[in-house]
Amino acid sequence: MKAPFESSHLKPPIRILCIAGARPNFMKLAPLFRAFASAPEFDPVLVHTGQHYDDKMSGQFFRDLGLPTPAHNLEVGSSSHAQQTADIMKRFEPVLLQEAPRAVLVVGDVNSTVACALVAQKLGVFVIHVEAGLRSFDRSMPEEINRLVTDAISDLLLVTEESGLQNLKNEGAAVEKVVFVGNLMIDSLYFHLERSKSSQILENLGLRGQRFGLITLHRPSNVDDPAQLGELLRALRVIADDVPLYFPVHPRTRARLQDMEIGSRIHLLEPLGYLDFVCLMAQSTIVLTDSGGIQEETTALSVPCLTLRGNTERPITIQEGTNRLAGTSYESVLNAWKQTVSSPRTGKIPKLWDGQAAERCVAAIRAVLA
Ligand code: UD1
Repeated sequence: MKAPFESSHLKPPIRILCIAGARPNFMKLAPLFRAFASAPEFDPVLVHTGQHYDDKMSGQFFRDLGLPTPAHNLEVGSSSHAQQTADIMKRFEPVLLQEAPRAVLVVGDVNSTVACALVAQKLGVFVIHVEAGLRSFDRSMPEEINRLVTDAISDLLLVTEESGLQNLKNEGAAVEKVVFVGNLMIDSLYFHLERSKSSQILENLGLRGQRFGLITLHRPSNVDDPAQLGELLRALRVIADDVPLYFPVHPRTRARLQDMEIGSRIHLLEPLGYLDFVCLMAQSTIVLTDSGGIQEETTALSVPCLTLRGNTERPITIQEGTNRLAGTSYESVLNAWKQTVSSPRTGKIPKLWDGQAAERCVAAIRAVLA
């Protein structure tokens, strides 16, 4: 007589705690949760650290991206790096003990990423890092420290672009830990691109059929020092004389802009939801940013991007995509703008940025855990 269940059915699903902390994490987790939904051998559990907590920085993204409600919200909020990282660790440890997962999956390079990876590894839980291997080689960036530490202690390193493979090799990561899966952020972009076209943001801003550019700025090195922020704004005002610029302002930047000269052709906006932002970005003449993810999204959309930094941890967007490093001085930003006007780049889509990264992540996880 046949047993009522095959033995595989008796195995409990493999629980994986997936960590969301700050805005750029949410678009990386959404496609993973969709892919896990067709992989019944896994039991993904979403944990939100609460590093970002405003509706415009968090809740709106959960709704736009169709992310499940987190099973746990650690509600850590904002504080210094040490306090925030320590608070996440202290609040995550009991959740980890209670949930007893087989693995903890962290994405990106924010404080929540390193904090939860540390807690898990110290309790002997398998750590998966999505977006491993990226390096700016600039240790004054808080994210670079988070990347280095997280990669050093992770058991499975899932990589978005070929530079990541090389960096991990140079650092001596064991080859069997490293898998090139492509870019989850681009999975989200392709999945939602059509839907973003029904956003009303172009009508609301009177931009349908118009030429315009988009600014985002939030790196501490660009916005915390008024002289540096002032220098960037001076260059941006010149660019805005040619093409009006729309600037959804990150909360960190909002306070810093209070006493600054903005100019009448730079239009400040509240932070935008994912679909509104993608809609604007896809129609932009130029995007000026210090974000990491936006360098990737503009490359995937073939929209010219000027990165207002001296380095990038995402070199493929320059080698193959539409990105140019513009530096952070008045002269360097305007030079990069002139080059973009005189010789715009269309670029090509980097390898494995094809909307299927989540399936490859799940396959890589299955290969080691199932
Ligand atoms: C964090 C990440 C950064 C990421 C960025 C995306 C780290 C070290 N940095 O930087 O890599 O690119 O998120 O946005 O993890 N605030 C609010 N509401 C919120 C969140 C923050 O008002 O929902 C304000 C607070 O005043 C806070 C400031 O923004 O002090 C900065 O927030 P924080 O999460 O510390 O760092 P980010 O600059 O957002």
